[in-house]
Amino acid sequence: MEENSSHSLRTVEWKNNRVVMIDQTKLPNELVFVEYDDFNQVAEAIKTLIVRGAPAIGVSGAFGLALAVLQSKAATKDQLLSDLENARQILYSTRPTAVNLGWGLEKIMNIAKTGETVEKIKELVIETAKRMAEEDIEINKAMGKNGSILFDNDDTIMTHCNAGALATVAYGTALGVIRATRESGKNVKVIATETRPIQQGSRLTAFELKHDGFDVSLVPDTAVGYSMANGLVNKVVVGADRIVKTGHVFNKIGTYQVATMAKQHGIPFYVAAPLSTIDLKNKAEDVIIEMRKGTEVTGIGDKKTAPDDINVINPAFDMTPPELISGIITEKGVARAPYEESIPKLFEAN
Ligand code: MRU
Repeated sequence: MEENSSHSLRTVEWKNNRVVMIDQTKLPNELVFVEYDDFNQVAEAIKTLIVRGAPAIGVSGAFGLALAVLQSKAATKDQLLSDLENARQILYSTRPTAVNLGWGLEKIMNIAKTGETVEKIKELVIETAKRMAEEDIEINKAMGKNGSILFDNDDTIMTHCNAGALATVAYGTALGVIRATRESGKNVKVIATETRPIQQGSRLTAFELKHDGFDVSLVPDTAVGYSMANGLVNKVVVGADRIVKTGHVFNKIGTYQVATMAKQHGIPFYVAAPLSTIDLKNKAEDVIIEMRKGTEVTGIGDKKTAPDDINVINPAFDMTPPELISGIITEKGVARAPYEESIPKLFEAN
């Protein structure tokens, strides 16, 4: 797979009727691309974090359904829609927290239903999935531009987890804002948190920012307070897996701690996410937090770092309440509190 310097890394792509992805479990040691021709493989890739990050799994789900139409032997529209529904359920069951997965799958299912013939449905599904991937990049760039005005020359920006090119198709959400800030001529530095337990910050954010020539420093998650108390950080920007209309933000475990610490030190805390991450239907208390296996916490890589048979609590995400958030940056503008008023307005903007 080629690297595109203007888009940085390309995380997921449709090539010759196959889905090609960077295997993110191998980063930063190896840059390996995997190719799939079966939607079940895409489902497994989402479950095992070969591909991860809310927008990236939304587009991967759509590409999974594109594979499903090619795999289907259906002779009628009804049979094909039934095969697609089966694939949708398998893909949907992989990860519960990021709303983008359901959004991507629903978008494809809706377009599939409009096709009159088997051939037409196949064409519509594949073309729509490909377009969603391209639109993801455009959306990130618009979001980046909207967010860049909130950052100043010589800012040092903290980010948590990976909301970069690797969490999207390319360019990134939170890291897209940082990229756009640099592209607007401002000089910025980045502090990336390690993001235990599976280290998306050190393995992915530090990797992609270094790859793109940013001045990036890595801190352990436990040094967030130190960094803020000692004036090492001016602003924070993170991504999101789901934002509900009250402005409660669900993102990688530890985000709530970073936001609380930012409030304590008077540091602006921004969230960057596309409208596809906003869930207008569910309330904060309805959102399912994915719980992951204990071995992610009892070891680092292959090395055991905890006693045998220890009980582990390993939530993959947490919720940051709106009072800790200075603004939500989207491709349609920046929403500010009260979010119940500003978020719906984003959907009305052209
Ligand atoms: O478990 P992950 O790696 O999929 O979690 C990813 C995050 O929490 C990201 O911050 C979020 O998806 C935003 S990505 C643009």
